[in-house]
Amino acid sequence: MIEDQASSLRRMNQSRLIKVIAVTGGKGGVGKTNITLNTAISMAKMGKRVMVLDADLGLANVDVMLGLRVEKNLSHVLSGECTLDDVLVQGPHGVLIAPATSGTQAMTELSSTEHAGLIRAFSELRTNIDVLIVDTAAGISDMVLSFSKASQDIVMVVCDEPTSLTDAYALIKLLNREHGVFKFKIVANMVRNSREGQELFAKLSKVTNRFLDVALELVATVPYDENIRKSVRKQKAIVDAFPSSPASVAIKGLADKALHWPIPNQPGGHLEFFLEQLIADKVVGGQG
Ligand SMILES: Nc1ncnc2c1ncn2[C@@H]1O[C@H](COP(=O)(O)OP(=O)(O)O)[C@@H](O)[C@H]1O
Ligand SMILES: [Mg+2]
Repeated sequence: MIEDQASSLRRMNQSRLIKVIAVTGGKGGVGKTNITLNTAISMAKMGKRVMVLDADLGLANVDVMLGLRVEKNLSHVLSGECTLDDVLVQGPHGVLIAPATSGTQAMTELSSTEHAGLIRAFSELRTNIDVLIVDTAAGISDMVLSFSKASQDIVMVVCDEPTSLTDAYALIKLLNREHGVFKFKIVANMVRNSREGQELFAKLSKVTNRFLDVALELVATVPYDENIRKSVRKQKAIVDAFPSSPASVAIKGLADKALHWPIPNQPGGHLEFFLEQLIADKVVGGQG
């Protein structure tokens, strides 16, 4: 089975360089889904082909936020009922949304057949994409860890609440100690101004610097913006509904910046690598 997966990976178009970003944060309600969606839409407006993998199965799914109708998800792809193209939903500006598997099943708990299905699904994807953004769930489940460590860039969304900071710290610590991740990009969300964003970043850095060997970078400060809630109610993205609102401007800046983050030349810059990493735990787990 492993052999099959490896050969199907090899069969994939090797030239498909793709940027993979995980948006995470540990805590629910910090703004992961809003940041994911608006970053994706902003990138699409800049001419990129973007896919959002909705792995946050909390209440406010990406599709719910946009008022889209979703009938099938990745679990139907894994079971061979349909192809990945069949589950993709078109969002604003052509952003493709892939609803992930439902419930608690972690990527590391997938059967060998499902692994093969996952790889096949992506290798058969007819749509070419430049960027894949994964909206992860709250918490530190295996699913969150798998997606985060498989991605090239981890964007941690934090806000100025003790629980957000402690949860972010716990996730950083786990990813660092158990999975060798050392670079984290921080988005300070729902702050009043950029100084407050800097202060929030300083609070988090202070603990990580003291206890961990990690590199944190503040990549965006997104202000608290009432128009985010207003656009959620309209089932629209703020970058579309209120393009010049402060949060829109900040998120567009983040999207532009993220497009300049380098994509590893080999092999981490390929979709295949992302998939290999997603399922790698299974192989390691099986041996150990
Ligand atoms: N910058 C912001 N300003 C105001 N409200 C925000 C902001 N970011 C997120 N929110 C609100 O916070 C809530 C949680 O956001 P959401 O993106 O669903 O978080 P998560 O995906 O982390 O659970 C939503 O009601 C959203 O409208
Ligand atoms: Mg969410």
